[in-house]
Order: sequence, then C-alpha cells, then structure tokens
Amino acid sequence: MDWQAITARIEAAVAPHIGTGKVADYIPALARVDPARFGMAIVQGNGEMITLGDSHEPFSIQSISKVFTLSMALRHYGEEVWNRVGREPTGSAFNSIVQLENEKGIPRNPLINAGAIVVTDMLVAASNRDAMVQELLARFHRLSGDDTIGIDEEVAESESATGSRNRALAHFMAAFGNMANPVEDALHAYFRQCAVRMSCRQLARAALFLAYDGCDPINREQLVTRENCRRINAVMMSCGHYDNSGDFAYRIGLPGKSGVGGGILCIAPGHGAIAVWSPGLNASGTSMVGAIALEELVEATGWSVF
Ligand code: DON
Repeated sequence: MDWQAITARIEAAVAPHIGTGKVADYIPALARVDPARFGMAIVQGNGEMITLGDSHEPFSIQSISKVFTLSMALRHYGEEVWNRVGREPTGSAFNSIVQLENEKGIPRNPLINAGAIVVTDMLVAASNRDAMVQELLARFHRLSGDDTIGIDEEVAESESATGSRNRALAHFMAAFGNMANPVEDALHAYFRQCAVRMSCRQLARAALFLAYDGCDPINREQLVTRENCRRINAVMMSCGHYDNSGDFAYRIGLPGKSGVGGGILCIAPGHGAIAVWSPGLNASGTSMVGAIALEELVEATGWSVF
C-alpha cells in the first residue's frame, strides 16, 4: 500500500471542506472547539500507524464510548444483553424517545442514547458507577499503552447539567422495569464515559481488537469472542450513525461509530482500525470532514466490506 499517495489523496479531498458542518453547541466545552481541526490515524494489525493532521490531539469521544461499553457488557453478560436492548436501526435521532413507548422500554439498539444507557446500567449493576468507568479507562490505558487517557470533568459536569433528555429516556425505561440501578447512578457513569478524551491515535489503537476477531493483535488479549466481535461490527454498520447509518454504509461500507465531539471510529476487518476527528457535524451528528476522509480512504484501499 502506498501510504504516502493515500494520505496525500485524503488531504486533497478534505481540504476544500475543512471547517464545514456545525460544531456541537449543547455544552460550552464542545462549542469552543475550532471547527477547522482535522486528525486521522490508521492502525494496522502489525502496529503500523499512519497519521494525518491533528492525530495527537485529544477530543471528547462522546458516543464512540458506546462501542466499548457494549463490548464490555457482551463479555460480562453474553446473550443476556439482548433481553434488555434490541439490535435494529431506528431511523431516528440519537436521543429520540419516540419508539420507547410502543416498544415497552426496550431501546432499539445499544448505540442510541437509550440503548447505551441500558448497557451502562448493566455494567454499573455488575460493579458500581465509579468502578465501571475505571474499568473502561483501564481498558483504554492497557490497549493504547497510555495511562494519561482520562475524563474531561468540565464536559462530564455539563453533560449532566444539560442532561434532561437522557434523564427522560432513563426514567421512561425505568418505568418499564428496564433499569437495574437508580437512574442517577447509571447516568453518572454514562455522562462520564461520554466525556473521555482521546486522540485519534489512541482511539484507533484501542479499537484494533474489533478488526481482528475480538483479539488485540499486538498484546494478544482476547477482549470479546470472535462471534461477539462480528456482532458488534454488524450493529455498528446498521446503527452506528443513527438516522445517517444507511448513508454511511453506502458511502463508506465499514462498521463505524460517530460522536458529537466530531470523532468517527471505523473498523476495517482484517486490515485495521481508523479514527478520524473533525468537529463540524452533519444533521445526524456525524463529522462531515471525517466522513469525506473515510470515503477517500476506502476508495484508495479497497477496504470496504462490500
Ligand atoms: O448523550 C449525549 O447526548 C451525548 N453525550 C452523546 C451524544 C453523541 O455523541 C451522539 N452522536 N453522534
């Protein structure tokens, strides 16, 4: 693979679009981020890392954390996870409540807010609200070899201060008996997992196990079974971008997960993991420039799963 040519091609494709899209503004700490930032890291199974732009710069991973908590829950609970959350796309926004009433408090999938809150609730029930977040961070430290990865306390507090909608989702599910812990305990952990700060390099490295049948190819740790790895990737492909998931699969053809901090994590099974960051979002909360960079990458590498 001629990475020099590929990175030049990606740079040329994103250049006219840098700064486009709308930066998340529901909390000041996210609204302050410069929309012109762009970073990307491609990590392969042999540890080789290809980087572009601000790949060192930590950003708020937000909803990308949902992929890691899902993998922790599948490891701990196995099939039981699917008693409390489904695996169908919604066609609705990430924070929508509309389907929950007809569907008896069972969220459609683990990558929308309601589903991720249930997954976090399961992890909190298995330990406690602080230990659960510590376990997530320990996993990031171990996989990326960097123990400075942590939580942006300002973001975590603001998530909670502006969290009426997530509280509504959690209370609504509690009314249907789909919360095991006091709602505030599960939300405390959920707001903190969203506020983890990581760089593209760290994020891609931490997700590499998802490209290699659940086993980190560098430290050889089996984080999820091969079967669950396949399933996580399937859910990312069908649900990872909310009501933009179909378009993302059409354009990029890789399992991915967006976050309102402007990050996108993509898995290229058998090839590697990719993290891209650029804060300007489309209407569904997916990074505009990030998606363009990924589109160019799959064009150049043939890594689409289709
Ligand atoms: O729960 C929320 O509203 C945010 N902390 C995370 C949302 C998010 O990242 C949606 N993704 N694109």
